[in-house]
Amino acid sequence: MRRIARAVCRFGGLAVCLGAGSASAAAPTYHRDVAPILQKHCQDCHRPGQVAPFALLTFEQASKRAHDIVRVTAEGRMPPWHASVEGSVRFRDARVLPAGAAAVLSSWVEGGVLEGDPGDAPAPRNFGSEWGLGAPDLVLRSGEMYQVPAEGPDETRVFVIPTGLTEGRWVQGIDFRPTAPKVVHHVLAAFDTSGRARQLDARDPMPGYRTAGGYGFWPAGEMDGWAPGKAPHRLPDGVARYLPAGSDLLVQVHYHKSGKVEADATAVGLYFARAPVDKQLHATGVFPPVKNLLPLRWNLRIPAGAADHEVTGEDVIRQDIHIVAVIPHMHWLGKDFLLNAERPDGSATTLVKIDRWDFNWQETYDLAEPLALSKGTTLRMRAHFDNSPANAVNPSRPPVEVRWGEQTTDEMCIAFLHFTRDDEHLAGRPPARFRQPKEDSGR
Ligand code: HEC
Repeated sequence: MRRIARAVCRFGGLAVCLGAGSASAAAPTYHRDVAPILQKHCQDCHRPGQVAPFALLTFEQASKRAHDIVRVTAEGRMPPWHASVEGSVRFRDARVLPAGAAAVLSSWVEGGVLEGDPGDAPAPRNFGSEWGLGAPDLVLRSGEMYQVPAEGPDETRVFVIPTGLTEGRWVQGIDFRPTAPKVVHHVLAAFDTSGRARQLDARDPMPGYRTAGGYGFWPAGEMDGWAPGKAPHRLPDGVARYLPAGSDLLVQVHYHKSGKVEADATAVGLYFARAPVDKQLHATGVFPPVKNLLPLRWNLRIPAGAADHEVTGEDVIRQDIHIVAVIPHMHWLGKDFLLNAERPDGSATTLVKIDRWDFNWQETYDLAEPLALSKGTTLRMRAHFDNSPANAVNPSRPPVEVRWGEQTTDEMCIAFLHFTRDDEHLAGRPPARFRQPKEDSGR
């Protein structure tokens, strides 16, 4: 009976708790009711050395911040997760509190921030320092440590790491291990076969090169991304990304300064496919309309002072596909972002909806289940930008007209998509664009 009362209490809020017994027995306690929530939903970031500014591992730490914890969870600001969960696809590793958890935290404070019986506490979480998927097949790390300055605005750098691969490999899983997770907000990865990234690297005196959030050019292909709380995973057997021979891995790290100089060289662990690969993971993007083909420019012009400037874009899918991940991308003026899929039969699915865009949390949103979209489906993107002086993160003061570009003071509006093609059957062969002429002959 006590067990049931406890479970109801955990997610039912104060009213239910009071109904379940006497107030003193039912008021949530730290060890019994609060610690399980903090453990599961906060400690990925709120522990020493990680990206959040303080730890939430003990009663002392949590009780000191009890009111802030209630405020940020009630407002939906923590855990940080910007994609709307209502009416859209479900995402893997979504950082959202279960219904009722915020109410438990607030009744804990209303009930007097009780510590309770340490015997009720869940076993502490084990944050292993080992690679999440076991020993990688290949570990790559940039040669030099980057000294992340103590102070200043956030910064995005791309590190260029030669893979040294003498033959192409199928990558089924990827994991990232920053040396200074405290300052690493998120990581995105791609690869280059053109030598362009090495040129950009050579031009920047520091390790890697600085960008406004992209790679400074269009890389040959994308890899998976990482943000705190995201567990690495293998793609389903038969699906992988092809990493061609001689390619350079591009590791794009978004740094958030910590008040202390921190040295970082994010290590990347690659897991090669164990079974023959039949489908590659493709990447594409939905953009605003094209303005100019050579050089390629997109039509994006945000007037100075405009507080709610709309940008739209659309694309029609030309074959049956399965969407695996969605990655919205804008810079500092981004306000909200929506990507819908409208099928030929009239049915529609929201792929991602972000009501409060935050440049600091550029996420790779992995769908919990790949989503089938048939040929002829229209992908419709709609975003808004705030180029007014009221936008606290507007990089231009006073605001100026903003166009498409790579600089922090430029803007972008892209919905990147990772997908597989239903009609693709590689039977272990490399993708056509990476095949040597001899591999193609006779097929
Ligand atoms: C993915 C990482 C991450 C997770 C998970 C996370 N936080 Fe945070 N938290 C941060 C970062 C980074 C900051 C500081 C910057 C900011 O506010 O974005 C922060 C700041 C805070 C603050 C101070 C903000 C303020 O305005 O006072 C509180 C309180 C807080 N977090 C509570 C929580 C609680 C409670 C949870 C779990 C329910 C949680 N956080 C989960 C990363 C995280």
